[in-house]
Amino acid sequence: MNRTLLIVKPDATERNLIGHIIGRLEKARYKVVEMKMVRLSEQDARRFYAVHEGKPFLNSLVAFMTSGPVVPMLLEKESAVADLRTLVGATDPGKADCGTIRYEIGKSIEKNSVHASDSDENAAIEIAFFFDN
Ligand code: CMP
Repeated sequence: MNRTLLIVKPDATERNLIGHIIGRLEKARYKVVEMKMVRLSEQDARRFYAVHEGKPFLNSLVAFMTSGPVVPMLLEKESAVADLRTLVGATDPGKADCGTIRYEIGKSIEKNSVHASDSDENAAIEIAFFFDN
């Protein structure tokens, strides 16, 4: 078993898609270990996305991620990180494979509905950002 973090982003909470996303995760055999709904401060969002410091999209991303509630979830499954990246699809929904969550509900490269950790190392850091586990 290993663990990863998914965040339902504001464009998806706004469209009442939290339940839909949990359904996709559970059908893909993820166990939702912890979950909460939070409103990120600007400081939280900048800290979470510190790896993107200096990128041209950072300010807009921070504004978007603080524009409404988000739902971080600690997920567990065998090959959790790699399988979630596959299920979520490419960052740009326009380039995501058919059947992926972003293909299905993502609106744009920024408003792409979900965040998923990209490595075991980052999953541990991102889980610790939101949960005590
Ligand atoms: P996420 O997987 O959460 O990681 C960084 C986020 O920045 C990304 O999803 C998008 O929401 C956002 N973003 C906006 N523009 C870009 C871009 N050009 N490349 C990568 N990420 C972008």
